[in-house]
Amino acid sequence: MKKGIIIQGSSRSDGDTNTVVSYLKDITGFDVVDLNQREINYFDYEFKNEDDFEILFKNMVQNYQTIVLATPVYWYTMSGIMKVFLDRISDYLYKEKDFGRMLRGKEMAMMSCSNDDDRVGEFNLPFSRSATYLGMDYLGDIHTWVSNKELPLEVKEKINAFGLKIKN
Ligand SMILES: Cc1cc2nc3c(=O)[nH]c(=O)nc-3n(C[C@H](O)[C@H](O)[C@H](O)COP(=O)(O)O)c2cc1C
Repeated sequence: MKKGIIIQGSSRSDGDTNTVVSYLKDITGFDVVDLNQREINYFDYEFKNEDDFEILFKNMVQNYQTIVLATPVYWYTMSGIMKVFLDRISDYLYKEKDFGRMLRGKEMAMMSCSNDDDRVGEFNLPFSRSATYLGMDYLGDIHTWVSNKELPLEVKEKINAFGLKIKN
């Protein structure tokens, strides 16, 4: 079984995205990082950030084969927190490039969450294209939805299949 990490990118730690992340964690045994609990600043061209990103990124590339990005749908796209996380990967394409190169050969997957089965087409494009750019294998993605904190059976089945696919 591969070692994986789920990056939770919601603006609330115990919201709907956390409901689906917790379900996926139970299936896969993957670790979870909640970006909402970390201090991660906007990308800085002068690389003056002193925040939690360095430790998080280095831990991710040194210890995990599969990286699952879990984001709510905010304004038809990924959350701001998730976008800032992706922006900051650029740090390691410009400086300490050896750490950036460690992404090559790893796997990326993505799980989105809203309150309905209503994700717009090509929502996944920034993820699949970024994976390709970074030399990662894009394992695919699913859209999930939560109604009043409950996971519909259809969504549980989707996550079950997704979990099996990404952990083996
Ligand atoms: C800022 C914001 C923007 C949103 N934009 C959309 C949207 O474009 N499409 C949609 O279906 N839901 C949208 N929603 C609803 C969320 O996707 C939905 O409530 C989701 O389950 C929230 O997950 P969370 O609890 O992890 O934040 C939005 C919610 C917020 C807070």
